[in-house]
Amino acid sequence: MERTFLAIKPDGVQRGLVGEIISRFETKGFTLVGLKFLKASRELAEQHYAVHKERPFFGSLVDFITSGPVVAMVWEGDGVIASARKLIGATNPLTAEPGTIRGDLGINIGRNIIHGSDAPETAQYEIGLWFREEELVNWQPHLTPWLH
Ligand code: TYD
Repeated sequence: MERTFLAIKPDGVQRGLVGEIISRFETKGFTLVGLKFLKASRELAEQHYAVHKERPFFGSLVDFITSGPVVAMVWEGDGVIASARKLIGATNPLTAEPGTIRGDLGINIGRNIIHGSDAPETAQYEIGLWFREEELVNWQPHLTPWLH
């Protein structure tokens, strides 16, 4: 079963959007298999955003992501990587479609509320970076499959 890494960024936590954001993935039908609340170290943030190391916004991005607590999560389900990206919306909240998390809840590209892995390789890398294997829960909700 496919898994993705999602993180509610410090702005999402500070604005009290944690419940609303988790709700969107729950009601969509995905399964939460990992959850932790933490203030990321600089080292963790730099590893997480390593692909952007040379970009002009790298320093401020790392400053921001380490500025307050984040909600780190792993979600599971068919097609969850691409679907979560769709639910999250475009990187710039001003151009993200209404109905998406960023389109509904944000206005600033540097404060875009949530992170979601963009491909199977990044999902695997990010899950391994933020979670130890034993912190992930292997379980299935007891629901009739066709309800989802
Ligand atoms: P990116 O991986 O391109 O976007 P996404 O989060 O949608 O996968 O960029 C990572 C984060 O870097 C992005 O969420 C916000 C920040 N960022 C900026 O601050 N300025 C920019 O011009 C870009 C492209 C990203």
